Amino acid sequence: MKFFLDTANIEQIRQAQEMGILDGVTTNPSLMAKEGIKGKSEIMERYRTICSIVDGPVSAEVFATDYDGMIREGEELAAIDPKITVKLPCTKDGIKAVKYFSGKNIKTNCTLVFSIGQALLAAKAGATFVSPFVGRLDDICEDGVGLVAHIVNIYNYYGFQTQVLAASIRNTNHIIRCMDAGADVATCPLPAIEGLLKHPLTESGLETFVRDAEKMK
Ligand code: E4P
Repeated sequence: MKFFLDTANIEQIRQAQEMGILDGVTTNPSLMAKEGIKGKSEIMERYRTICSIVDGPVSAEVFATDYDGMIREGEELAAIDPKITVKLPCTKDGIKAVKYFSGKNIKTNCTLVFSIGQALLAAKAGATFVSPFVGRLDDICEDGVGLVAHIVNIYNYYGFQTQVLAASIRNTNHIIRCMDAGADVATCPLPAIEGLLKHPLTESGLETFVRDAEKMK
């Protein structure tokens, strides 16, 4: 399973890249706003910086909600760097835009996916990635990881090439469960990835080894 970092924060992206576990980055308008980014030139500059750090795909979300606007913005974003993946909402216009960009061999991420029907349309339109929102489904007492597993099964059954990108990951347990469900990618906050390292036996075992190593100095 690939790891994408779900942030527009440069320091966190650098940290994950330095760990050697980073396969890509996803952003959305809320994550960009959180970084205090304002205006088109700052947005474009932030994507250029992210692409210069990361080796894999970088999802850049359009702000427009109409087809023409999505195409205009998506083309501008895609022109920044070949790593850019145009992120489009799973609406009627969004699906049309996914089809348009897939026809031009531009990578797409179909986002805000909350049902198997939406995932089916994203795959039929040729999306590179589909993003089921695990945490937001859990927030309303639905089964986010269950949707990921359902999409993985249906895509395997019909041989769709679209990769299942588990999004809205909130914690380490979500990552493990999405891995068990067969997700191709999980896009995560950095603390959720770092949580994978935590084990009390690793910590106490290391303390003992450090203590015993001291005795031999
Ligand atoms: C990433 O592609 C999504 O936009 C993001 O994971 C949403 O996460 P949230 O539900 O925590 O805002």
